[in-house]
Formats: sequence, C-alpha cells, structure tokens
Amino acid sequence: MLIQDILAAKRDGEPLEEAQIRRFIEAVADGEVGDEQIGAFTMATYLRGMSLDETVALTAATRDSGRVLDHGALALPGPVLDKHSTGGVGDPVSLILGPWLAACGAHVPMISGRGLGHTGGTLDKLEAIPGYNVTPDRATFERLLKSPGVAIVGQSGDLAPADKRLYAVRDVTATVASMPLIVASILGKKLAESLDALVMDVKIGNGAFLADDVQTRALATTIADVARRAGTPTSVLLTDMNQTLATSAGNALEVRECLDIMTGKRDSGRLLDLTRELAVQMLLAGRLAASRDAATERLDRALGNGEVSERFCAMVRGLGGPTDLIERLDDHLGHAPIVRDLYAPHDAIVIGQDVKALGMAVVALGGGRRRAGDTIDPRVGLDRIAALGTRVDATTPLVRIHAASEADADGIAARLLEAFVLDANIARASGLTVPPLIQEVMLDPSVAASTPSPHAGATS
Ligand code: URA
Repeated sequence: MLIQDILAAKRDGEPLEEAQIRRFIEAVADGEVGDEQIGAFTMATYLRGMSLDETVALTAATRDSGRVLDHGALALPGPVLDKHSTGGVGDPVSLILGPWLAACGAHVPMISGRGLGHTGGTLDKLEAIPGYNVTPDRATFERLLKSPGVAIVGQSGDLAPADKRLYAVRDVTATVASMPLIVASILGKKLAESLDALVMDVKIGNGAFLADDVQTRALATTIADVARRAGTPTSVLLTDMNQTLATSAGNALEVRECLDIMTGKRDSGRLLDLTRELAVQMLLAGRLAASRDAATERLDRALGNGEVSERFCAMVRGLGGPTDLIERLDDHLGHAPIVRDLYAPHDAIVIGQDVKALGMAVVALGGGRRRAGDTIDPRVGLDRIAALGTRVDATTPLVRIHAASEADADGIAARLLEAFVLDANIARASGLTVPPLIQEVMLDPSVAASTPSPHAGATS
C-alpha cells in the first residue's frame, strides 16, 4: 500500500479504511514517512475531517504504535484506573486523585504531561518537590503501581511514539485544532496504559483548551464515543474552567494546597469538590463501589484517616523525593522572595475571571514555559485568587502575587487587575449566577446501567 495513495484518498475526501490508517501510523512510528508526508496527512485531515470509524482507527493505531502496558505479570489485586484532563489553570486534581484512588483499592499508572500554553502541567508541579523523578525505570514504576498503588510520571519514549511525531508536525503546520487529531492524540496515549476504566475531565469555559464551548462539547462527546469503541470504558465530565479550581496557581503553591487538603487542613472548596466527584465516578467505573453513597463513604474514610497523604508521600519517596515532605514542607518547597497582595481599586464583587490571563500571568512570573526548554521557577505564582462572588475590599485582596523579584511583581500587577471582572454595585452583583462546577456527566453505559447519576445533564 503506497503512502501517496493514502494521502491522495484523504486529500480527495474519501474515507480511509482501518488498514490504510494503521499502515500510515506504523510508517510514522518506524520513520518510513518523512515530516512532509505527515504534514500532508495532518492538513488533509484538518480540512476533510474524519468519520467516527476513522477516528477510532486512528486512535487505536496511535495506541499500538509503541509499547502498550501489560499489567498481567504484576497480578494487581484491584482495577487499573486513570483520569485525564484537557488542562486547566490552578488545576492540581491529579495530585490528590491518584493517591485517593489508590487508598480505595485502585492502581493508577498516571502518565502525565507538562504545562502547555496557559495551562499548568502535573509533572511541573511534582518537580517542585526536590528529588522527584518523573522518569523512573520500568521496575520502579511497576513497584509503585503495585504499592502504594499510584505512580504519577512522564511519558516514556516508547509509549505512543507516533503521536510525538504527529504532534510536532501539527504544531508547525497549523493543524493542532483538528478534532480527530486531538482525540487520537489524547486517547492514543491514555489507552496505551491498558486501563480497566478511564474518566476524562473535559474543561469548558474561558480557561479551557478549546475556547469555543460548542467545540468543547463536541470534543467531550467524541472522546466518549471513540474511547468506548476502542475498548476502554470511559465516562466524561464536562467541568467549569471559568475560574480556577484551586485558590492558587503555580507549581509549589499548588502542591502546598493539595497537601493541605490531603492532611485535612482544608476541607472544602472547588478543588476538593471536583476531585471527589471524579473519584466517585472512577470507583464506580472500577467496580470498587456499588453506589454513589458507598463510593463517597469509602473516599471520606480514606481522606479522614490520613491514607491519602500517606500514599502520596510513599509515591514521592519511591520516586526520589524527601522522606519528610510534610514535616518540613516549607524547607522543601521554599518560598518566592517577593510576596505581595494585589487589591481592587474599589470595593466590589468579583463577577468574572479571565482564567487564560491568570495562567499566562503565572508563565510571565516564570512558573511556566514560553518556549520548550525554558527552566521553571517552582516557587512563583498566585494564591488567594478571589473566586467568583467574592467581595473584595481594602482588606480582602484580588490575588496574592509570589514573584522572584520586585520588578516581576510590578510587571504583572496591571495585567492581573485586568484578569478580574468587578462589579462595584454590591447589591446587584450579589445575585450573580456562578457557572456550575460540573456541567455535564456522560457516564459510560456500563456505569450508567448500574448507578443512576445525580447530575441532571447525565447522558449515556
Ligand atoms: N493534548 C494532547 O495530548 N494532544 C492534543 O492534540 C491536544 C491536547
């Protein structure tokens, strides 16, 4: 089968056969095709689109382009589960969710990414912990997957290698924003983890990966359809990114906030609420709980008795981090030298956040990368971010800035002021409707059949 014929078929809008897609992706992985042919494929796909059948074939071929994890030899006593998010700001859900699920009997091979654009990356957050190695050898990874049951690490080169080449070409050929290419890229990597079930957290709102809500909903539906047809039971939650989840955004600051939650110093908030809901869905999907009530009870017990923080610390130790992380948190995470509160120009209610601008402010402070290879300052970022509906005044700031220098703090202040929409009419603004945290739940049919969801928008 000639590569040129496959390209010509897609160029002319003909649907590709599964065998043609597999042949092309194998040729990407083994280097038979050049970047110019990959560029032709991604552009033809961008312009012509793909049917659901083609997208499933592209996803499965991407998954199979490298090593597919085989957990059989580990004889794990519980299900293998993972969550993937399309990326947010102030969104360190994975740090709590992974050990929480492990404490409830799951095994979580959480292969994560770095910050992309305005969104933060799980690996960057974990690397704020001195010594934490995101690229362990296979034996270490498997040992941790067995016990403590969670390993949050980076992608090894042999996992879905076709995606690495495809993504690099998409990045420079203006073909990133193609639904089938996005879906195959996200799921090809996740499904190579050989999961018993996957939960996808698709962010919607002004801080989401796709700025357009209609496209975001289409992405959520396509991910659900494709993942299930590729053989992995998958539930999808559409969750709000019109404000940050955590009260902080910045690598060490988010680690600190997560540890405060895991150790019971904070017991409420959007971050914990969403993490709990994702965990409920995953315990149901993994058959670790028979009902929402049973799942919630199990989760609350694990959080209350300290098991979640213990599992997190065991993972950190196993990956080379400190043995006394919680006891000497300040020493290990450090602090930015400049810490400054930013106040609104007048008393007001916060009625909007430009989440993308908040994410870019963290990048500008040095907490993210402007280009690949930039080093990150893990100490910098934002905290005390005023949530929607917060009344700000001379004593309650909009946000607290953590910067490496006075000049950095000065430089970001004006941009941060613009990232908050304020209403000075306190009485009118108190009627503000805040977008719901969980906007829709698309349950996997196997879960939907056994457990009715409390969410009005739930579909199967
Ligand atoms: N994340 C991915 O891994 N791939 C995409 O194409 C988009 C987001």
